[in-house]
Amino acid sequence: MELLRKLTQNFGPSGCETALHDIIKAEVENYVDEVYSDVLGNLIAHKKGNGKKVMVCAHADEIGIMVKSIDDKGYIHFTNIGGLGTFTSIYQRVQFANGTVGVVSYEVKDGGAKNLKFDDLYIDIGASSKEEAEKLVSVGDQAMFLGDFAETGENVISKAMDDRAGVYVMIEALKMMKDCPNDLYYVFTSQEEVGLRGAKGAAFDIAPEYALAIDVTDTGDTPGCSRMAVKLGDGACIKVLDSSIICSKAIRDLLTDLSEEKGIKVQYEVLKAGGTDAGAIFATKSGALTGGVSIPTRYIHTPSEMVNKFDLKECIRLVAAFSEHNMEDVK
Ligand code: CO
Ligand code: ZN
Repeated sequence: MELLRKLTQNFGPSGCETALHDIIKAEVENYVDEVYSDVLGNLIAHKKGNGKKVMVCAHADEIGIMVKSIDDKGYIHFTNIGGLGTFTSIYQRVQFANGTVGVVSYEVKDGGAKNLKFDDLYIDIGASSKEEAEKLVSVGDQAMFLGDFAETGENVISKAMDDRAGVYVMIEALKMMKDCPNDLYYVFTSQEEVGLRGAKGAAFDIAPEYALAIDVTDTGDTPGCSRMAVKLGDGACIKVLDSSIICSKAIRDLLTDLSEEKGIKVQYEVLKAGGTDAGAIFATKSGALTGGVSIPTRYIHTPSEMVNKFDLKECIRLVAAFSEHNMEDVK
């Protein structure tokens, strides 16, 4: 859990993913032939092979905020980076790259805290004037939400499980893998939260024939939540659909076969709201047979995203099995 703690707690809103590259590189470099980054901010770990080109990815970025303006009293006005709500932002703490911490609050308008827009919210960093605030924070600076890493029973809570849990699954799968007949690219993508941007460029460059995106997915097991078959603690999710993709049947079937063969517990994910890198890779160039392995996660896009240790273990085993499977027979 120490590696997952380190990955989740590190700074890395969309556009600032390179802040994670040293940590990831140190973990994977002994297991691959080369590690390099591109101008989009992707980090690519390449395990050379003579077989089919396979791309596996998880996004390194997390949701956050960006400073729009600073007022005369030193309060910071901001916009969201990625899909977060005003409701989940209020009274949370944010931290900038230089360590400056602030609290998010809001201007009281008619209707109280209902129907708030990001323009109604502000960050208080304890400055008493614009000049004082500008010593610490500038327009265009980004911040992440703070959310400590904690374990509760078999579950783990932290900010940025989306998608550092996916990054963690890939790192551990790489370590677990034995022989790999494929030409394998493990890509830690950039700017997923703002439109699947890094994965698109990486897929264009690599031009994989097979692809798998590892990300978090919602669950349908909390009071009053929307209907969904996924449960926390019930194993790895084989993605069938999200708003960016209908997964290739060949990949869904392969993942099912592998889970039966290895005794990996799986469930099937139909996610109505929310896309993943899978959608970007699927539709780049002439396309790739694409699927997804997802980590069941409660309270996504809040500073308290919750995952389960058993699910993580099953995801790691499934991603490793996929990566070392000879793709020659998958059509
Ligand atoms: Co997300
Ligand atoms: Zn994600």
